[in-house]
Amino acid sequence: MLHFELLATEGLARRGRLTLNHGVVETPIFMPVGTYGTVKGVLPQSLLDMGAQIILGNTFHLWLRPGLEVIEQFKGLHGFEGWNRPILTDSGGFQVWSLGEMRKISEEGVKFASPVNGDKLFLTPEVSMQVQTVLNSDIVMQFDECTPYEVRGHLTTEKEARTSMELSLRWAGRCQTEFERLQNPNALFGIVQGGMFESLREASLSHLVEMDLPGYAIGGVSVGEPKEDMQRIVAHTPQRLPAGKPRYLMGVGTPEDLVDGVAAGVDMFDCVMPTRNARNGHLFTRYGDLRIRNARHKTDPRPIDESCTCHACAGSPTGANAGSPTGANAGSLTGASAGSLTGASAGGVSRAYLHHLDRCGEMLGPMLTSIHNLHYYLNLMREIREALDVNAFAAWRERFHADRARGV
Ligand code: GUN
Ligand code: ZN
Repeated sequence: MLHFELLATEGLARRGRLTLNHGVVETPIFMPVGTYGTVKGVLPQSLLDMGAQIILGNTFHLWLRPGLEVIEQFKGLHGFEGWNRPILTDSGGFQVWSLGEMRKISEEGVKFASPVNGDKLFLTPEVSMQVQTVLNSDIVMQFDECTPYEVRGHLTTEKEARTSMELSLRWAGRCQTEFERLQNPNALFGIVQGGMFESLREASLSHLVEMDLPGYAIGGVSVGEPKEDMQRIVAHTPQRLPAGKPRYLMGVGTPEDLVDGVAAGVDMFDCVMPTRNARNGHLFTRYGDLRIRNARHKTDPRPIDESCTCHACAGSPTGANAGSPTGANAGSLTGASAGSLTGASAGGVSRAYLHHLDRCGEMLGPMLTSIHNLHYYLNLMREIREALDVNAFAAWRERFHADRARGV
């Protein structure tokens, strides 16, 4: 089941509402990545507190570990990981592709050795649909081949990109047939490929649109290409997809990339950047990025971002519906309503403390920074939705760039 409603548009940007089997998703949306059935280091309750509406899981990883028998016992991924809101699962195409030389692609599917125990495995469009049906994810991605930017030391040619894109189209057809045969009650998305070639992107999307799937993704970007190439494809493809269906840009990107994506008509994003960068001490803020490992933070009493209301910056989270940042920080009373046991807020932590945790390799460090970065991404999308609601996205976008350029 999937229902998508367009609530407002401004230029190509769209404000929408997506209804799935496990709940409603307000778009544009950022989806935190939970590859192994966990958004690394973040409690499900923290995800809810920071306003996450839908998270990702991965067919490839969950198929290998814990395997389908375990997940079947919990009637799917929601029960297994304790997340009762929508989940989107990637098909495994991208992850198998990332195995490099360890895999062999044919018309039928992809043969590879399990990176866990060396078992010989064969992932096909049918197997991907079978696994995702057991996972019971609200959004199922087609099995595709992510066309690389470079192969064996040369840029992917138009001919190679066409061959790859056409294989993904045939796999899309097999996915749809198997998805229907399994009577999967969720929604199958197609993935537009075509490398860096607009004409191939158009051919891909027109075939996928003929299949009348409930939603479409743009894949094969952020695969090592120069920024200008990514921007060219993101400016080209979304607007050519059906207006009444959700559009998902896979694996992108920086805050600036998300804002550009929304401006180009994208509704959904996912990326490991907020969580992966958090673990490496790279923090996003309204006023630019900050590297907590830098010695200049050693004694800094300020929070990561004075305008942020996350658990790390402001103590107890103010939650999804707390509206825009209050500008207030430590000792705010907002903690009282956030369901803490004592009713008291713990207060936020300083850059000096996070710098210390990082130097000591303490696990609380990446937990707090992951919460902050995800909160930043989710709040960014919330601000975009609020701007679109009042037709003020263009003005919001100018302010966003000015703020980000200011510096922390
Ligand atoms: N994640 C990022 N890019 C891609 C892609 O092209 N295909 C799939 N399946 N997942 C992705
Ligand atoms: Zn914060």
